[in-house]
Amino acid sequence: MPDPVSKSFRTDRRSSTTAVDDVSLRVEEGSIVGVIGYSGAGKSTLVRLLNGLEQPTSGTVEVLSVDVGAASEAKLRDLRRSVGMIFQQFNLFTSRTVAANVAYPLKVAGWKKADRDKRVAELLDFVGIGDKAKQYPRRLSGGQKQRVGIARAIATDPRILLADEATSALDPQTTAEVLDLLREINRRLGITIVVITHQISIVHELCDQVIVMDGGRVVDSGDTYRVFAHPRADLTKRFVAAVTQGVPAGETLSALAAGGGDLVSVEINEFSSEDVSNVFHRHGARHSVVYGGVTDVLGRQLGTLTYRVRTDDLGAVVAELRAHTDVVVPTGEVRA
Ligand SMILES: Nc1ncnc2c1ncn2[C@@H]1O[C@H](COP(=O)(O)OP(=O)(O)OP(=O)(O)O)[C@@H](O)[C@H]1O
Ligand SMILES: [Mg+2]
Repeated sequence: MPDPVSKSFRTDRRSSTTAVDDVSLRVEEGSIVGVIGYSGAGKSTLVRLLNGLEQPTSGTVEVLSVDVGAASEAKLRDLRRSVGMIFQQFNLFTSRTVAANVAYPLKVAGWKKADRDKRVAELLDFVGIGDKAKQYPRRLSGGQKQRVGIARAIATDPRILLADEATSALDPQTTAEVLDLLREINRRLGITIVVITHQISIVHELCDQVIVMDGGRVVDSGDTYRVFAHPRADLTKRFVAAVTQGVPAGETLSALAAGGGDLVSVEINEFSSEDVSNVFHRHGARHSVVYGGVTDVLGRQLGTLTYRVRTDDLGAVVAELRAHTDVVVPTGEVRA
């Protein structure tokens, strides 16, 4: 494993900010990795280190077997051709047609006109805007502009695609379509994708690996489902709580408790809501969900559900649930 990487910026003569702080990680070839964190966490800086746009202050960044900090300018130019990038504001040439935007990196790479034209047509078909070749970007919707950005980024057959907040300017429906396209690029072309976002839903839908950043540091990382089902860092817990509501408290709890029965809050993870229902059924306990939320992480459930339960033997029911997952009885402890 190369040395951990740090990147500092001098802010004035006396002080500097550490944007990336002692980070050590490895991206598996062929995966889709999400980098998530709040504004200023160092996400963009981390990704700019990956295509050699920034040099590390210390440590080693190795991309496709190239040591970014030690590579010659020529080597870095080659590397940048193998690392495509798409952006929140699309960064298209407004005075050039869609076809000319996509052809640009091919021209830079020395492709002949006839080859370029053929490749551009192929790419535009692949991203679903084959009919827009002669249009100018200003006539396109945000989703169509990002498709142009994607076609341009994959034109020279990169091995890696970096997406910095690439869907942040798009509505939810268009975001979903662009995520589908990214998934297809990963599966069909085998391109490794690194997605930077502050939206947990994007990581849940798309990424098999996740890197959680806070203040320049990586505070959690690994398999997406495992990271969110068993969060280690407070920030990861906050990201999960934001979509799953957690356990009821305060006035909400009082109001729910007034409805009778017992309230039981169950963590849903590998132990699914169907598994929970099965336990209730085995004990003949009447139950219904009264609070909570479950999110879908790559097709698997994750969240917290609170049930109103009516049973003579709450202790036995809770004991069986606790053998599988975390359970809280917000109306008061029960003896098992
Ligand atoms: N070129 C630069 N010069 C000085 N400071 C910088 C530079 N680039 C980034 N920083 C600082 O480094 C820190 C991390 O910035 P970075 O852009 O990587 O964060 P981010 O997680 O991408 O944030 P956002 O979600 O807002 O895009 C910030 O404090 C930022 O001000
Ligand atoms: Mg950023």
